[in-house]
Amino acid sequence: MQILVTGGAGFIGGHLAEQFVSDGHDVVVLDTLEPFYDVGLKQRNIEAGETAAKNGTGQYNFVEGSVTDSDLVTDLVSETDCIFHQAAQAGVRTSVENPGKTTRINIDGTFTVLEAARKAGVRRFVNASSSSVYGKPEYLPYDEDHPTTPISPYGASKVAAEHYARVYNEVYGLPTVSLRYFTVYGPRMRPNMAFTNFVSRCLHGESPVIFGDGTQTRDFTYVNDIVDANRRLLETSVADGEVLNIGSGERITITELATVIRDEIDPEIDIVYDDPREGDAEHTHSDVSKARKLLGYEPSVSIEAGAKQFVEWYRRNKDWYDPLVRNS
Ligand SMILES: NC(=O)c1ccc[n+]([C@@H]2O[C@H](COP(=O)([O-])OP(=O)(O)OC[C@H]3O[C@@H](n4cnc5c(N)ncnc54)[C@H](O)[C@@H]3O)[C@@H](O)[C@H]2O)c1
Repeated sequence: MQILVTGGAGFIGGHLAEQFVSDGHDVVVLDTLEPFYDVGLKQRNIEAGETAAKNGTGQYNFVEGSVTDSDLVTDLVSETDCIFHQAAQAGVRTSVENPGKTTRINIDGTFTVLEAARKAGVRRFVNASSSSVYGKPEYLPYDEDHPTTPISPYGASKVAAEHYARVYNEVYGLPTVSLRYFTVYGPRMRPNMAFTNFVSRCLHGESPVIFGDGTQTRDFTYVNDIVDANRRLLETSVADGEVLNIGSGERITITELATVIRDEIDPEIDIVYDDPREGDAEHTHSDVSKARKLLGYEPSVSIEAGAKQFVEWYRRNKDWYDPLVRNS
């Protein structure tokens, strides 16, 4: 199968592209290599895709360019069976600082890829959405019927993109699905997130810093489970036009997470607290029954086990991954 992964040099797209190539598919990655975080990490994702191609039957091609470039996207999509649209300006805080950029990439970019997909008659369009669409919890865990009241421009852009995807299914019959990912972590993850910060600081003998009082809770999802959910969508059309939560189905307080990581590395280190950050949700927790029913999705890694696996991976890859080592 010919697969286009937009944002495929990023964290999640990098894992998807690598997996699809290993499965024997031919993959094109479209990515601008945004310097939102160290571009060297994106090169690692590209190398992972190239290595998978060398070791298997699938092909891997990287194209540097933007999802907002209609001519380029139209050209790439004309050869494509399935699109996994991961390209975005990720990050709540970035969207608070620069809402225009988030809107252009996340809304205009999604529209541009949908439009090209419609014209080309693509068989599957999977849109990466986010738990940030929920914003203020009226009840937990969130099911997909929970109201969407985002509290950041990022969350608003993801709601808009979901609606475009749904409308393209309803009006044009394009087989779209939006997956609402709940905070994703794992090897090669974006370094500007709590998981990496906690591990990095503890490995350097420094205190992990929590923004807020640490009682906020998160549903953290191991990246392999995200890949698994996407992969299932290659084989089924049952979820056309739907939005699905993809999470671990568990939640943990930020203090508990910092404690698990700290205890893995050095139980003597203190945890410290700083002011809360604007735009961050207080709690996230997924109800994944819909994805379970429609896709057979079953989260396989508990947050505590995943945190320990991540620390192990981090230790082995610290030389190139750790922000403090890379910048020293
Ligand atoms: N990581 C998470 O916890 C999480 C949670 C919920 C949703 N998501 C969503 O999942 C997707 C992937 O997130 P990620 O964590 O891998 O982020 P990431 O930043 O690592 O990956 C996004 C990629 O998109 C690329 N990109 C940015 N603008 C582009 C453009 N105009 N054209 C083409 N490529 C462009 C970036 O260079 C980057 O490589 C995003 O849509 C994000 O909003 C992520």
